[in-house]
Amino acid sequence: MSTDEDAILQLRTSYLQSVPAIKIPFDNLFSSVEADWDFQTRLYNTVLRKDATAYHPAGLYRRQFLKSMIESLQKKIGDDGEIYDDILILYSALLSQPESLDDITKPTYTTYLLPSTDGFTYEGDPQIVVSERRSLLSANGHTGSRTWEAALALGEYFLSSASPVKSFRNHTVLELGAGTAFTSILLSKLQAKHVLATDGSEFVCEAIRTNITLNKCANNISVSQLFWGTSQEDSFIYSDLWDIIIGGDITYDSRDLSDLVFTLKKLLKNNVERGAYAIISATVRNEDTIEEFESHLKTAELGFSMNEINSDLRRLWYYGSDTAIRIYTIRLGVY
Ligand SMILES: C[S@@+](CC[C@H](N)C(=O)[O-])C[C@H]1O[C@@H](n2cnc3c(N)ncnc32)[C@H](O)[C@@H]1O
Repeated sequence: MSTDEDAILQLRTSYLQSVPAIKIPFDNLFSSVEADWDFQTRLYNTVLRKDATAYHPAGLYRRQFLKSMIESLQKKIGDDGEIYDDILILYSALLSQPESLDDITKPTYTTYLLPSTDGFTYEGDPQIVVSERRSLLSANGHTGSRTWEAALALGEYFLSSASPVKSFRNHTVLELGAGTAFTSILLSKLQAKHVLATDGSEFVCEAIRTNITLNKCANNISVSQLFWGTSQEDSFIYSDLWDIIIGGDITYDSRDLSDLVFTLKKLLKNNVERGAYAIISATVRNEDTIEEFESHLKTAELGFSMNEINSDLRRLWYYGSDTAIRIYTIRLGVY
């Protein structure tokens, strides 16, 4: 890929994921390109133009992105250089839009571009679009209304050479505490036999249905409300057959760990003949909570191995924080 194409791809990736403008290294990206009229035209057509994507980020974000991008471009081309007309027209149109509380509280589209990999083929577009509510005000207090770093790490792990699964075609997958269902949608796109995205919150499940529609992947993915623990012990989910149980950032509240481990054990026990296992990605915000999770696993006689997800394994998307992330592989019985 040429330097120009690489810079445009990096800008497109950041823009679609609504990476905070101050975190985008515009100066660095423009340092090795010509930034002439031709480059700017391609940048506009590939990233900013209305039909460059069906799901542009929120107006407020686009304004901040353009402001930083134009400042950096201007620095690069100097006072004699010209900024491409359509970029300036778009920026002034966004500036003239009135700001409202709606801009902050409305759900916004976040698009995560998927890498081209040798091993995997995607069903549909190589991207995951989710409707996210990043402000707690609009998320009704639900943590499941945005995609968390642990879900990104889990997705990146499945796309890496370290993944225990080389093809999902014969696998049925159950996700616990799915949130936006980023990982479920990824595995659906990786052509899993079937994926069931579950969450304890009906509000979150409703949002997952929207995300499935956005990604046009309804053929092999469904949604069901599931609260961990004994309260839904009779759910069909426990008698259906699963090869892998997954979860991202579901180990943060020590009050839920016993219910979570109850659910994991019941599912693993019911699917032991299939060789089922669970892969849980945990952000280590509090070491004591993670130790508690491990101790619940040991008490339940669930064996586990663990991989630390360091910065080398966080390359595909913007994570927003470098808090430690661990991926646990869990099986029935002691390892
Ligand atoms: C921090 S979010 C993580 C969402 C998603 N997996 C991700 O990583 O982006 C935790 C999710 O777990 C769900 N959850 C929390 N406690 C639960 C419980 N006891 N039973 C089922 N789901 C629960 C929440 O509704 C929320 O969607």
